[in-house]
Amino acid sequence: MSAGEMDAIGRRARDSVPYLFPEHISEVDRLDVQHYAIRAEIQGNYLAPLDRPQRILDVGSGTGQWAFELCEEFPDAVVVGFDLVASKANAPANYCLVRGNLLQGDGLPFADDSFDFVHQRFLVAGIPLQSWPEAVRRLVAVTRPGGWIELVESSYEVNPGGPATRRLFDLIGAAASLRGLDGTGEVGRRLPDYLAAAGAGAVQAGTLTVPIGEWAGRAGSLGAADFRAAASRLTDVVESELGVDRDEYWELIATALQECEQHRSRYVIPYAYGRKPPC
Ligand SMILES: C[S@@+](CC[C@H](N)C(=O)[O-])C[C@H]1O[C@@H](n2cnc3c(N)ncnc32)[C@H](O)[C@@H]1O
Repeated sequence: MSAGEMDAIGRRARDSVPYLFPEHISEVDRLDVQHYAIRAEIQGNYLAPLDRPQRILDVGSGTGQWAFELCEEFPDAVVVGFDLVASKANAPANYCLVRGNLLQGDGLPFADDSFDFVHQRFLVAGIPLQSWPEAVRRLVAVTRPGGWIELVESSYEVNPGGPATRRLFDLIGAAASLRGLDGTGEVGRRLPDYLAAAGAGAVQAGTLTVPIGEWAGRAGSLGAADFRAAASRLTDVVESELGVDRDEYWELIATALQECEQHRSRYVIPYAYGRKPPC
């Protein structure tokens, strides 16, 4: 298949999705900043107790940075990224991207029981609230018995938070809800339920937090850069769908960041992982 045909498939796949974040080259930088902020927090790339996985799937792989690092950590493994859009250039030799839409068809385009580890991070802006149980069922279906599934998600919460930050999240949540996406943080709270309902056992859940602001040194600078970039990328959505003036919105982002600095706030990131029962 030619690169042009691949792009056409990618465009068609994108046209039929509710994904909140617009496609733009700066989104690559934002996703990588976000990745480094989380990696600094957990001192690694996953939480499940993996034992030398041979086949790894990253659903909604974005730039591919997480998957590229798994390729390095597990050089004998094959790591597959699955996304609407292409990954960054210079992928490791043991990385492979499959382009497609998680929400289309009857399931993921992989055989059942075929991955040792299935990871999905930050898809709350792409999977409608009502589709979450089915989406997680699809992840569990392609995991081999005894393999692990890990979900890491965004929330609408910084802790402690101030009024501007709350209003900012309320606006973003309202825009998300208009598209049928989670606008309140329900997905993050229900991650363990989705896994259990899809048949996973040994489910563990908790929250990570990423500091926002210079008060926390380099990790906080990364967190603040991601917060600013993510909120800014939604300017057009908030303006067109909620009628909020863009200058007012940018002022709100700046005030929210000041609040995070003053309160020493941390962004809350819910996670859950579970194991497909061994045969
Ligand atoms: C916020 S990014 C997260 C990327 C990566 N998981 C990370 O943590 O850096 C969400 C990704 O999900 C992809 N995505 C959104 N909706 C999707 C769908 N229906 N099927 C496949 N991928 C989707 C987007 O293209 C984007 O690359």
